[in-house]
Amino acid sequence: MKVVLAKHSGFCFGVQKAIEKAFQEMDNSKSRGEDIYSLGPLIHNNQVVEDLQSRGLILSDTVDEIESGSVIIRSHGVPKQIYTDIKNKDLQLVDTTCPFVKRIQKIVDQYHRDHYTIVIVGSATHPEVIGINGWCGHDGYVIQSPEDIHRIPSDRPLCVVSQTTMPIPLFENVVAALKKQHTNIKVFNTICLATQDRQEAALELSQQVDAMIVIGGRHSSNTQKLVELCRRILPNDTYAIEHSVDLDQFSLENYSVVGITAGASTPNYIIKEVMNKIEKSYRSNKQIAIDGPAGAGKSTIAKKLAKETGFLYIDTGAMYRALTLKILEKNVNLYDQAELQQLLNETKIDIRNDQIILDGNLVEEEIRTAEVTSNVSKVAALRDVRNKLVEMQQQIASNNDVVMDGRDIGTVVLPNADLKVFLTASVDERAKRRYAELKESSQSKITLEEIKRTIQSRDYEDENREINPLIPASDSVHIDTTKLTIEEVVQKIKSLFEKV
Ligand code: DC
Repeated sequence: MKVVLAKHSGFCFGVQKAIEKAFQEMDNSKSRGEDIYSLGPLIHNNQVVEDLQSRGLILSDTVDEIESGSVIIRSHGVPKQIYTDIKNKDLQLVDTTCPFVKRIQKIVDQYHRDHYTIVIVGSATHPEVIGINGWCGHDGYVIQSPEDIHRIPSDRPLCVVSQTTMPIPLFENVVAALKKQHTNIKVFNTICLATQDRQEAALELSQQVDAMIVIGGRHSSNTQKLVELCRRILPNDTYAIEHSVDLDQFSLENYSVVGITAGASTPNYIIKEVMNKIEKSYRSNKQIAIDGPAGAGKSTIAKKLAKETGFLYIDTGAMYRALTLKILEKNVNLYDQAELQQLLNETKIDIRNDQIILDGNLVEEEIRTAEVTSNVSKVAALRDVRNKLVEMQQQIASNNDVVMDGRDIGTVVLPNADLKVFLTASVDERAKRRYAELKESSQSKITLEEIKRTIQSRDYEDENREINPLIPASDSVHIDTTKLTIEEVVQKIKSLFEKV
C-alpha cells in the first residue's frame, strides 16, 4: 500500500506561532514562580492541550477566575472587552491571536465605529467568531448560508468579513446573495490562505487515492471542513481520526493508495505517527535494519543474514561510496549546489547480486580504495546527497524483503522496520578486522595505527554530522560483536527476527 501526504496539511502559521509562544511563556512563568492560564483550550487538539496542562498551563474559562500571573489569549482571539478585563486585573497578557484573525478584528472594530452593520460569515458558536463579534459590541450578524441574509437590516451600509476557515464557495455565495439586496456593501475576504491551501490540497488528493484519512480534533472546525470536502469525492472511504490509535477501528486492507491530510491544529508528530502505523500495519514485505559504526561487522553479517533468509541485501554504505567515486572522478565541487544536483540527477546506482553498479558499470573494487574511504563521510554529510540516496533506498525496500545496513537505516530510511539491530565493537577490534581485510587484498601498506585513526575520525564525522547522524534507533537491539563470531551474531539476529 502507498501512503501519500497532502501537499499542505497540519499546523498552520498562526497555530505554530501560538504554540511556540505558549511554551516559551510557560518557561518564563515557571522561572518567575508565577501561574500561567489559557482562556479556553489553546488549540483544538486534545493531545497538545493535555501536554500543555501536564507542563503547568492552567485552563480557565473567564478572566474572573484568575487572580494573578499571566493569561494566554489563544490563536482564535477574544472579544475586545477581555483585553480591558486583563488590564484591570493587572494580569500579564500573552497574546497569541493569529495575525489573520487580528486583521478581521481590526476591520470589524473600525467599520463598526463608522456605523456599518457587521456581517460575519461563519459559525456563531465558534470561538473565533465569538471573538470577532466582540469587536463590534456583539452587534454583528453571523450567517452561514445565503438563506440567512433576510435577517440583515438594510438601514446602514454593510461590512462583510469571514471566519478564517470558511470554504471560499460558501463565502462567495453569501456575498453574491447580499449584493442582490444591498447596494452599499464593503466585502473583505478574510479566509486565510493556509485554510485554502489545505482544502484545495485535500480535494486534489482525494481524486487521486482510494481512501482519505483526515487527522484532527473533533472540535476543530477546519478539520471537519476537510472531512466534508474529502467525503464529497470519497463518501464511503473518508476516515476522520484524532490520533493513531483510532486506526484500530477500521481496516485499510482493500486500498492500494491512501491519502492523508490534517487540520491546522494537528501537530506534525501525530501525522508522522499515523503514517508510520499505516505503513507498518499494511506493509507485506519484510525489513531488517542494521546500523552501526565502520568495522562493526555490519556488511559481512548482513550479507550472510540475507543469504539465509532469502532477502535482498542492500549495502547503503556502498551507495555513498559509489557516489563519492563519481564525485572524485568528475572532480565535482561538493559545495556548488547546482553542480552537485546535476550530478545526482545524472547518476544511476543499482544493486544486483550484492554488487554495486554505478551508471551500468560494476564498481565493487573501485569504491573500497583509501581515497574513496577518506572522502565518503564528507559526501554522506550533504543534505542533497542524503535526500537522493534515502529515497532510492526506501524505494528498493518498498518492493522487496530486505536486509539493509548503514548508519541511519533504523532511524531514517526504514523507521518501521520489523527488526532494528545496532552493531558495535571496540575501536581496537574494528581496526584489527579492517587491517586483516586489507592485508588480504593488495592494499597492505597502511599500518594498524593509521587504520585506527581513520576509524576514529569516521566515527566522529558520522556521529556528529547535522543531517541523519549515526545514532541507534530507540527501538533497536544492541549487539556488541567484539567477542562474538560472525556466525554467532547472524544466528542471534535470526532468532530475534523469528520472534517479531
Ligand atoms: O559502511 P561503509 O563504511 O561502507 O560506509 C561508507 C560511508 O558512508 C560511511 O563513512 C558513512 C556513510 N554512510 C552513511 O552516512 N549512511 C549510511 N546509511 C551508510 C553509510
